[in-house]
Amino acid sequence: TKHLLGIKNLDRDEIELIFETADNFKDVLNRPIKKVPSLRDVTVANVFFENSTRTRLSFELAEKRLSADVINFSSSSSSVKKGETLLDTVNNILAMKVDMVVMRHSSPGAPHFLARHIKANIINAGDGTHEHPTQALLDTFSIREKTGGVEGKKVVIVGDILHSRVALSNIFALQKLGAEVMVCGPATLLPKHIASLGVKVELDIRKALEWCDIANVLRIQLERQKMRYFPSLREYSLYYGINKELLDSLNKEIVIMHPGPINRGVEITSDVADSEHSIILDQVENGVAIRMAVLYLLAGKVD
Ligand code: CP
Repeated sequence: TKHLLGIKNLDRDEIELIFETADNFKDVLNRPIKKVPSLRDVTVANVFFENSTRTRLSFELAEKRLSADVINFSSSSSSVKKGETLLDTVNNILAMKVDMVVMRHSSPGAPHFLARHIKANIINAGDGTHEHPTQALLDTFSIREKTGGVEGKKVVIVGDILHSRVALSNIFALQKLGAEVMVCGPATLLPKHIASLGVKVELDIRKALEWCDIANVLRIQLERQKMRYFPSLREYSLYYGINKELLDSLNKEIVIMHPGPINRGVEITSDVADSEHSIILDQVENGVAIRMAVLYLLAGKVD
């Protein structure tokens, strides 16, 4: 593969190769000298048409740890504001002898479009409501690290499944690695045909938490909602918010995950997000090793 556009077209062996490569890079990142020369003479452009904290910074750090040259593009401060197209923008960046493009875009399929028109490795850093492959890789890698493996684990993805690229990429990755997957949220935030992906669907958060080993809690993405959906944030927090009282009443321990950014007090309370059962910051830490692995495995494979 010369691109990482999504998890859908990866097979289990490819995901496991990424994990094994990330294991090695995680060892490197724990050494006093965290830098390796693997991507010396490779130039990477991080091209972001949507806001990001974790993904953009961890890609940049991963590239620098691999000794790549890095340039960063943010559409909000660019000539996109003067009307320049996506293709013209990227072709102009590539004219500066760039080898790899990491792109986040609000349109589903934007990186697939680029892959058909440009000659560089493309890594999808999130395309609208479609996929966010490196997030799903770091999430499943973190489950493997915390629990010893993904196979056979029961994972519920909670919240705004309808607008979530994290949910779709996680469903693909978890299923390929042998986990059982459930989605839980209000019916208005579940895609109509979600059950056709082979996931369980549960509207009752208590039942979902009673079933699972791991809960991956998502943010309500108000910025993607074209009309005012039920529920409001207050209603959502009342019926689906994960709080300590709810977890304590289950008499079992659940691993808590969240891709970030968190809306504290809406989908999750601080006492849960910051608890010993939360691996939210481990997910962020693992993001660097996973992105180093993806960059390393793709580099130099342009036709
Ligand atoms: N999880 C994630 O994609 O976070 P950012 O939007 O901050 O990159």
